[in-house]
Amino acid sequence: MFSLYSYYLLLLVLALNTSQYFGNMETEALLKWKASLLNDSPSLLPTWTTSNSSSYFNKTTTPCTWSGISCNNAGNVVKLNVSTLGLQGTLLNFKFSSFLYLTTLDLSSNALFGTIPTHITNLSQITSLIFSNNTLSGEIPREIGLLTNLVSLVISQNLLYGPIPSTVGNLTKLHGLGLWDNQLNGSIPPEIGNLKSLSALSLWRNNFSGTIPVSLGYLRDLTTLDLFENLLSGSIPPHIGNLTNLKRLLLFDNTFSGNLPQNLCRGGSLENFAVAFNNFTGPIPKSLKNCSNLVRVRLERNQLADNISEAFGVYPSLDYMDLSHNNLYGELSRIWGKCHSLTYLSLSNNKISGSIPPEFRESTQLRKLDLSDNHMVGEIPKELMKLNFLIYLNLSHNELSGQLPREIGSLSELDRLDISSNYLSGPIPGEVGKCSKLLYLGLSCNIFNGSIPTQIGDLISLSILLDLSHNELTGGIPSKIGSLRKLENLNLSHNMLSGNIPSSFEEMESLLSIDVSYNQLEGRIPTNKAFQNLSFDAFKNNKDLCGNVSGLQACDSSGTSKSNAMDKHKVVITIILSLLGVLFLILASAGVFFIFYRKKIDVKEEIQKDLFCVWNYDGNIVYEDIIEATENFSPGHCIGTGGYGSVYKAELSTGQVVAVKKLHPSENGVGLGSKAFLDEISALSEVRHRNIVRFYGFCLHARHSFIISEYLERGNLSKVLSDIEEAVKLDWVRRINIIKGLANAFSYLHHDCSPPIVHRDISSSNILLDLEYEARVSDFGTARLLKPDSSNWTELAGTYGYIAPELAYTMRVTEKCDMYSFGVLMLEVLIGIHPGELLSSLTSSSSPTSQNVLLKDILDGCLSPPTLHASYELFIMAKLAFSCLDANPESRPTMKHVSRELSKAEALDLELFHTTTLGQLMHREI
Ligand SMILES: *[C@@H]1O[C@H](CO)[C@@H](O)[C@H](O)[C@H]1NC(C)=O
Ligand SMILES: *[C@@H]1O[C@H](CO)[C@@H](O)[C@H](O)[C@H]1NC(C)=O
Ligand SMILES: *[C@@H]1O[C@H](CO)[C@@H](O)[C@H](O)[C@H]1NC(C)=O
Ligand SMILES: *[C@@H]1O[C@H](CO)[C@@H](O)[C@H](O)[C@H]1NC(C)=O
Ligand SMILES: *[C@@H]1O[C@H](CO)[C@@H](O)[C@H](O)[C@H]1NC(C)=O
Ligand SMILES: *[C@@H]1O[C@H](CO)[C@@H](O)[C@H](O)[C@H]1NC(C)=O
Ligand SMILES: *[C@@H]1O[C@H](CO)[C@@H](O)[C@H](O)[C@H]1NC(C)=O
Repeated sequence: MFSLYSYYLLLLVLALNTSQYFGNMETEALLKWKASLLNDSPSLLPTWTTSNSSSYFNKTTTPCTWSGISCNNAGNVVKLNVSTLGLQGTLLNFKFSSFLYLTTLDLSSNALFGTIPTHITNLSQITSLIFSNNTLSGEIPREIGLLTNLVSLVISQNLLYGPIPSTVGNLTKLHGLGLWDNQLNGSIPPEIGNLKSLSALSLWRNNFSGTIPVSLGYLRDLTTLDLFENLLSGSIPPHIGNLTNLKRLLLFDNTFSGNLPQNLCRGGSLENFAVAFNNFTGPIPKSLKNCSNLVRVRLERNQLADNISEAFGVYPSLDYMDLSHNNLYGELSRIWGKCHSLTYLSLSNNKISGSIPPEFRESTQLRKLDLSDNHMVGEIPKELMKLNFLIYLNLSHNELSGQLPREIGSLSELDRLDISSNYLSGPIPGEVGKCSKLLYLGLSCNIFNGSIPTQIGDLISLSILLDLSHNELTGGIPSKIGSLRKLENLNLSHNMLSGNIPSSFEEMESLLSIDVSYNQLEGRIPTNKAFQNLSFDAFKNNKDLCGNVSGLQACDSSGTSKSNAMDKHKVVITIILSLLGVLFLILASAGVFFIFYRKKIDVKEEIQKDLFCVWNYDGNIVYEDIIEATENFSPGHCIGTGGYGSVYKAELSTGQVVAVKKLHPSENGVGLGSKAFLDEISALSEVRHRNIVRFYGFCLHARHSFIISEYLERGNLSKVLSDIEEAVKLDWVRRINIIKGLANAFSYLHHDCSPPIVHRDISSSNILLDLEYEARVSDFGTARLLKPDSSNWTELAGTYGYIAPELAYTMRVTEKCDMYSFGVLMLEVLIGIHPGELLSSLTSSSSPTSQNVLLKDILDGCLSPPTLHASYELFIMAKLAFSCLDANPESRPTMKHVSRELSKAEALDLELFHTTTLGQLMHREI
C-alpha cells in the first residue's frame, strides 16, 4: 500500500513541470496574503487573481504577470515589490516558505503593522529586504542572522523597539543596513564590525546608548555613517578617521565627548560632517584643512577650543558651515572668500577677534552670515555690501567701530540686519531705507548720533523689530515711521530725541510693544490701542509727555500737560530741592546704606527659598538671566499676550533668543507646584519633535512664574493668515507642508507619547512659524496628560470656535476633541480665515444652497489656484477636515490616520477636485 502511494506520488511529481508546481505554491501564498489584508487593501492588487475557470494545472496560474512580481526564466518568483500601495495588514499570513527563489522583497511605504515573523528566515535566497516606512513593531528577530545572503536590509521608519540582535554580525554580505527612525535601544552591537562589505550604516533617530564600537573603525568600505539623534556617548574611536571612503559622518544630537578624531577625512572623500549638539572638546581636526570635498560642516554647540586662523582651507564645494557656540578664538582668515559656494556661515558665540576680512565679498553666494557674540574689532567693511544675496547679517555683540557704510542700501534681499551692541558711530545712513525686505532691524546699543533718517519709514516690511535704543540720536521722530504698519516692536528709548511723538504713530496697527523712555519727548502720546496698554515705564524720563496712562499727566486741550504753565517756577524749586536733597542724601547715606543692604540680602534669600526651576536646556539659563533679559518683564520685551499670560522675547547673555511666557497670577495659585503638575512638566520636557516648540524650562516663584521655550521668528499662524501680504507668502505648498507637519506633531503627541498628550487648545494662534514657514505646535498651557483609564473631567478649556461640540455637555476630554479643533484649523488654512461662518451656513437649514458650493471656490482667494499636485493634497485635506468635524467624536479619524492620509495624498482624479461640493464633503459622500 505504502509503495503504491509513493509510486503515484513520484509519477505525479514527474508529470508536473516543477516551476509550475512552485508557481502554484507561490500563487496560493500570495492570494492567501492578499486575502488577509484589511479594508480595501485587496482591491489595491487587482491583477492578483486566478481565472476561476482554469484548472489547477493551467499555466496562467503562475503569478509572473501580476503587478509587482518578477520571475526568473523557470517561472519562479524572484522579486516582489508592492511598495507605496497603501496596503494594510500584517506579515503573519505571509507564507515565506513558499518563496524558495525570492531575492528581493520590497513592502516599503505601506501601512503594515505587527511584528516581523521569525519564519521570515525561510527566505533562503533573499538579498534585499525592504520594509521601511510602515508601522511594524516589536523586536528585530534574532533569526534574521540566518538570512546570510542579505545585501540590503532596510526596516527604517517603523516602530521597532529593543536592541539590534548581535546575530546581524552574521550577515557578512550586507552593504546597507538601514534601521533609522524607530524606537530601537541598547548599544550598537560590536558584531556590526564583522560586516566587512558594509558601505552604509544608518541608525539615526533611535534611542541607542553606549559608545560607538571600536570595530566600526574597521569597516573599510563605509561611505555613510549616520548615528545622529540618539543617546550615544563617549568619544569617537580614532579609527573612524581612517575610513578612507567615508563621505557622510553625521553624529549630531547625541552626548558624545572627548576630542574629534584628528585624522578625519583621510581619503579626502568626506563631504558631510556634522557633530553639532554634543559635548566635544579640544581642537578642530587638522586634517579637515585639506578635506577639499566638504559640502556641509556642522560643529556648533560643542566646547571645541582652537585657533581658527589657520584651521580651515579652501573648499570649492562648501555650502554650509556652522561653528557657533564653541570656544574658538583667533582671527578670521581671508581664505573664507575662496569658498565660492558658501551660502551659510555662522561663527557666532565664540571668542573670535580681529577684523572682518573684506575678502568675504568673494563668497558671492552667501545668504546668511552670523558673526555675532565675538570680539571682532575694526570697521564693517564696505565690501560686505557687495554680497547681494545676503538675507541675514548678524554682527551684533562685537566691538566693531566706525560708521555703518552707506552701501548697506545695496543689500536689497536682507530680511534681518542686527548690528546692535557694538561701538558704531556717526549717523545712521538713510540708504538703510533701501533694504526694503527687512523684517528686523537692530541698531541698538551703539553710539549712533544725528537724527533718525526719514527713509527708515520706507521699510514697510519691517515687522519683528525696529530697535534704535541706547544710542545718541537727536532731533525729532520722523512722522514717516508711522508708515510701518506691520511693525510689532519699536524701541527708541535711551536717546536724546525731542519734540512730539508723531500722530502718524496712530496708524501703526500692529504695534505690540513700544518704548520711548529716556528721551526729551513732550506733548500728547498717541491714542491707539498699543499706546493705551502701555505702562508708565515705556514713557518715563522724558521732558513732558502727557496722555491717558497712569503715571503721566493728563493732557489739556492744546496737547500739553496741564501743569506746563508752572514749569518755570518748578525748575527753580526743583533745583533748590535737589540741592537740599543731595545734601540730605550725603548725610543720611551711611545709615541708610546699612539698612538697605540688609534688606536686599533678605529679599534675595526669599527668592532663593521660594524659587523652583526645572531646566531642560543644556546652556545655562538661570532665573536671574530671564529677569535681566526681559528687564523685569518690561513691556518693551513683550511680544504678545495669550489666554494664560503674556509672552516675552528674551535675548540671553549668550545670544540665544528664547520666548518666555509669564503666567497670569491666577495661574500661579494652587495646582502649580503640585506633584501632578511637576510630573506633567517633566513629561512635557521629554516631548521632542521637529514640529513642536522646544520646551526649555520652567520657573515657579511667588512673584513671577514662567515657561521658557523656543522663540520663533514669524509669530503665529493666525497673524500670518490675517495679514494679506504675509498670507500671500504662505503659498499652497507651504500651507500643505504646515498641515502635514502639524499632523505629524499631533500624531506624535496622541500616539507616541505615553501617556498620550491631548493638546486641548489647538487653534491658529497656538501654531508658530519659523523663518522657513515650518509650523510648530506651541502652548501646552492647557494640555493635561491623559492617562488612558483615568477620568478626564476637567474644566472647559480651549479657544472659542475650535472647541468640539460635545464639550458643551460632557467635559470628557479625549484625543477626539483635538481632532475637531484640527479639522477647524485645516479648513482655516484652506480658506484663509476662521471657518466659523462657513460652517454655520453649511449646517443652517435656511441656506441649503451653500452645500452646493464647490470646494475649489472657497479656497483662500489671495493665492493663485493650486498646481495639479497641490490640488490633490488640498482635496485630501478638505476631506479629512470634514471628517474631523463630524459631530460624533467616534466617527472622527485618529491623528495617525490623518497624518498617513496626508502623506500619501497623490494620484487622484483631478475631476474630483473641481467638482466636489461642500455638501458632499460634509456628508462624507466622497
Ligand atoms: C516548464 O515551464 C516553463 C515555463 O512555463 C517552461 O519554460 C519549461 O520549458 C517547462 N519545462 C518542461 C520540462 O516542460
Ligand atoms: C469568477 O469569479 C468572479 C469573482 O470572484 C465571479 O464574479 C464569476 O462569476 C466567476 N466565474 C465563474 C465562471 O465562476
Ligand atoms: C487556462 O486559462 C485561460 C484563461 O484563464 C483559458 O483561456 C485556457 O483555456 C485555460 N487552459 C486550460 C488548459 O484549461
Ligand atoms: C551567528 O551569530 C551568533 C552571535 O553573534 C554566533 O554565536 C553564531 O556562531 C553565528 N552563526 C554563524 C553560522 O556564524
Ligand atoms: C590609521 O592609518 C595609519 C596608516 O595606515 C596607521 O598608521 C594608523 O595607526 C591608523 N590609525 C588608527 C587609529 O587606526
Ligand atoms: C560637558 O562636558 C563638561 C566638562 O567637559 C561637563 O561639565 C558637562 O556636564 C558636560 N555636559 C553634558 C551635557 O554632557
Ligand atoms: C512613506 O509612505 C507614504 C505612503 O504610505 C509615502 O507617501 C511617503 O512618501 C513615504 N515616505 C518616505 C520617506 O518614503
